[in-house]
Amino acid sequence: MGAMTEPIVLGVETSCDETGIAIVRGRNLLSNVIASSVDEQARFGGVVPEVASRAHVEALSDTMERARIEADIEWTDIDAVAVTAGPGLVGALVVGVAAAQGISVALDKPIYAVNHLSAHVAVDRLVHGDLPEPAMALLVSGGHTSLLRVDDLATSVTPIGQTLDDAAGEAFDKVARLLQLPFPGGPHVDQVARDGRPDSIAFPRGLTDVASQREHRHDFSFSGLKTAVVRWLADQERRGVSINVADVAAAFQEAVVDVLVTKSLRACQETGIDVLVIGGGVAANSRLRAQVVERAEPLGVQVRIPPPVLCTDNGAMVASLGALLVERMVPPTAGRAVNTAGNDATRRGQVDGGFDADSSMPVTTVSLRGLA
Ligand code: KG4
Ligand code: ZN
Repeated sequence: MGAMTEPIVLGVETSCDETGIAIVRGRNLLSNVIASSVDEQARFGGVVPEVASRAHVEALSDTMERARIEADIEWTDIDAVAVTAGPGLVGALVVGVAAAQGISVALDKPIYAVNHLSAHVAVDRLVHGDLPEPAMALLVSGGHTSLLRVDDLATSVTPIGQTLDDAAGEAFDKVARLLQLPFPGGPHVDQVARDGRPDSIAFPRGLTDVASQREHRHDFSFSGLKTAVVRWLADQERRGVSINVADVAAAFQEAVVDVLVTKSLRACQETGIDVLVIGGGVAANSRLRAQVVERAEPLGVQVRIPPPVLCTDNGAMVASLGALLVERMVPPTAGRAVNTAGNDATRRGQVDGGFDADSSMPVTTVSLRGLA
């Protein structure tokens, strides 16, 4: 018997304000249930960590049970558990980690503590099949913006560029607030921008000037853009000119999208990598999705973007990465590996070993590995 090719994996995601529980069988998504505290958070205009942690505690058991029922399995059918161990809000992560550890021990199944950012990339395999490697990954979320070289999605993810200040999603959320759109801002800016003119205002494209081309070729910066929007709005107000929100949203969005697409495609060309996968909440953006496909085509770069519901935080991404780790025989974080029939010595992770949530888990750590 060789590797288990279609493991049933439970994925647990609680790094921010969505409680995401999903079950996969190999690359097949059996269920994907999300409970969000976003309505509660919207009252505060942002994510309040304590509110998020408590909401996870309240939502977890019901979300788990719904995921199991929708997947039409018994708890004992589960081969492995995967959980986001970081990066994210520590109090929120801890709730998911504790729950996942409990299930892993109760079922006597291995647990894989995985990286939220790699999981955003790994979710794509549920939709488009295994990712060709090497691949370039653009990771654009509320907290992170990076270009990653993926040589092996289970073990080798290397950042080649990242934002020096705000994340792309953070820029969307801040500008949405300036435009008095509800939190979280990204989807609202996306919506409003549909009626606006992208070329109505020439907002700056961060780190694209000649000097930045050398030192920060693959890096991003969005705080200057946000400041430019602030200034532009103040200027209009001073002159008593009424603001066309749709135009501002469209022009701002165009600046973000232009930089993301330009830099991603350039990274592909310069490395000779012809597959670009995009993950994270901002990958749900309609303009980004349309622009990147249009501009990649003539360059011969194949673009993979999961459907919007799998771009924003969810449990499927975690389960998907977990299943990949099982298939590639990466040692689990704790518990006995399910995937090999070798001798006992090669089957053990760190039996009974615990692990902690790591709010600043580096992107290079795809998963925490126990003792092989
Ligand atoms: O990946 P995600 O759900 O959570 C993090 O890991 O941060 O990303 C959330 C971010 C938020 O900033 C949200 O405004 C943004 O993704 N977002 C969007 C869209 N949908 C979500 N940004 C632009 N356009 C969208 N359609
Ligand atoms: Zn995320």
